[in-house]
Amino acid sequence: MYNFKGLLFHLSISACLIGCSDEDDSPDIEFQAPIAIEATSIGEDGFTANWIEVLSADSYLLDVSAEEDFSAFVGNLQDVPTSGSSYKVSGLEDNTTYYYRLRAVAGSEVSAFSNSSQVRTAEMEEPFVPVDQPDIPLKDYADFPIGMAVQAGRMTALYDQRLSGEFTSLTAEYEMKMNIMYPSSDSFNFEQADAIVEYAEANDMQVHGHALIWHNATPSWVTNFSGTNQEFEQMVEDYITTVVTRYKGRVRSWDVVNEAIEDGNGQLRNSVFLQKMGADYVAKCHQWARNADPDVLLFYNDYNIEFDAQKQQAMLDLVDDFIDRGVPIDGVGFQMHISYNFPSKSQLESITGEVVNRGLMVHYSELDVRANPNGTLTQLNDTRAEEQGAKVEEVVSIFASIPTDQRFAITVWGLRDSDTWLIDFWGNPEWPLLFYDDFKPKPAHTGFLRGLGWQP
Ligand code: XIL
Repeated sequence: MYNFKGLLFHLSISACLIGCSDEDDSPDIEFQAPIAIEATSIGEDGFTANWIEVLSADSYLLDVSAEEDFSAFVGNLQDVPTSGSSYKVSGLEDNTTYYYRLRAVAGSEVSAFSNSSQVRTAEMEEPFVPVDQPDIPLKDYADFPIGMAVQAGRMTALYDQRLSGEFTSLTAEYEMKMNIMYPSSDSFNFEQADAIVEYAEANDMQVHGHALIWHNATPSWVTNFSGTNQEFEQMVEDYITTVVTRYKGRVRSWDVVNEAIEDGNGQLRNSVFLQKMGADYVAKCHQWARNADPDVLLFYNDYNIEFDAQKQQAMLDLVDDFIDRGVPIDGVGFQMHISYNFPSKSQLESITGEVVNRGLMVHYSELDVRANPNGTLTQLNDTRAEEQGAKVEEVVSIFASIPTDQRFAITVWGLRDSDTWLIDFWGNPEWPLLFYDDFKPKPAHTGFLRGLGWQP
């Protein structure tokens, strides 16, 4: 490739050689100084210094000072050799003003100093020290099951203490889904599911089964099923029969088809199940589950039905159709992946009421309350933790006002903040649960207690 930069430098030397007088004591070669521009990526202990490059430069020398006149330098940040148009400066004090400037270097020649650019490092946040909360088990105040989403490998030691001390119902966070339990056409895996059910039995808890069919947890051999539609349907019936029969009398309830309704249009989601079995597949799955265990409770479970009017209508239409046709359904699961400031109390009350009016049970099935829905916080703070607690209290008190025999359960989707699926899902820091990472209760836990009627 032709070296354009080299050529320019060469021309500027020649120009000088011709134009420079012998009497002139200034260096033979003078070339432009770079221009320091605004710093970026400003953090508590550093920033990225930026400048506009000089065409003839090979490299640059960077100075960083806390003095505007560069009478002293920060550490050894004087004449730091660098290249390109930026340099990451680190190891600085927080909340302090710094200045940087540069000189360009070409061979043995050095330019004049650039202008200086000013930058102030960010203020260090005080670490969040949570206010101690009353440490009272939820189950002491609840007259309905309080559930926790669990993973088989986690239920030991301190985790186990909190889990068995506070909760009376278990849901597998992912280990009772089809991709785990039916990984290939010729093998079932019930190892983790069994461990969860055994833990529940040993600790006098109920198990809510989640979920027989879910488009997001369908093994690839099912998504790419090679047989006929009839064979596909038979396979689904056999699967549901096998699983529900296995846990008959041990798993009290199942989410049958999870999230069958599409976002945005209220239609049935265009999953492999809809494609191969047709629009009545949800009803068929309910019937097969009921055939396998006449006593098991069957739920329709979905998200955003807490507030999305179109999805709510589609859910109610599905439920009404089942009731009209005598398709077995016992309740509706509202996942309740909500935020500290949304949805509103009246939104939650009105859709809960719609389900209650139909005589069905209600499950708030995957409760977590985002404290950082806009991604602006880098750590939780007291105000937000209290706001989150107030939302939890609101949700629990709405649930507690449902007629007793229609209150199925409130299930929380994870124990400690760091256990939450939401950090991966949204890619933000998040603290949506009831316990801090050291298992101490949060204001969200206190809010839950208040919602149950506890008073200090
Ligand atoms: C999530 C689990 O939390 C994750 O561990 C798993 O990897 C994916 O599924 N709606 C549901 C739950 O019904 O099953 C989902 O759980 C969260 C959204």
